[in-house]
Amino acid sequence: MIFAANFKTNHTRATTQTYIQELNQKIEATSTPNDIYIFPPATALNKFDTKATVGTQNAYPSKNGAYTGEIGVDQLDEFAIKTILIGHSERREHLRESQEIVAEKFSFFLNEGFEIIYCIGEPLEIREQGDKAVMEYLLAQFEGIDTTYENLIIAYEPIWAIGTGRSATVEEIASTHKALRASVTKPLLYGGSAKPANIKEIISIDNVDGVLVGSASLNVESFFEMVTT
Ligand code: PGA
Repeated sequence: MIFAANFKTNHTRATTQTYIQELNQKIEATSTPNDIYIFPPATALNKFDTKATVGTQNAYPSKNGAYTGEIGVDQLDEFAIKTILIGHSERREHLRESQEIVAEKFSFFLNEGFEIIYCIGEPLEIREQGDKAVMEYLLAQFEGIDTTYENLIIAYEPIWAIGTGRSATVEEIASTHKALRASVTKPLLYGGSAKPANIKEIISIDNVDGVLVGSASLNVESFFEMVTT
């Protein structure tokens, strides 16, 4: 199983350092076989000595250059970071990343050999129109995306379940992951209010290969409780 922690705009360089030290102790103590990923904010990226994979939440599709406020591959190389989140709904919405921009980023980081966690998800008004509308919406988010890329993990995150405390139901996750499985053979994560209280039922759903966790990952105890459930 894959357990990925997305800190978003939370934690500092100092608290990320402490978090990873505590995580390392827990990994040592339990020798968990699960794959753990941590996505700290860009200012906290570093060369960590850890069994967890540390990735970036975002980067600009360039090695370097005149892209004020962005980081590129040179800045990631400094810390040997080769894993990136692309297509998160918060970037699509707040940073106005269109499918075209997302696809361009995807191709660039694919060519750089990065491991990509590619996020897709539908808004509530689409979910309310039923399964067919949901699948149409999700498959459109594969436009321009090479879903056969060997270093790819997909994260299905219904937007209405992100940060709301309201996870999708077991039936909703099961039917969506089953339908996605028909189009992609890559590991499929679920994301959206995954937490210690519901992790057991989420990871026992067919075609769920792990979770992408926001809020419940911010505290290392809570995150690791999920990893070892
Ligand atoms: P959440 O966020 O766990 O706080 O719902 C998940 C995500 O956006 O990756």
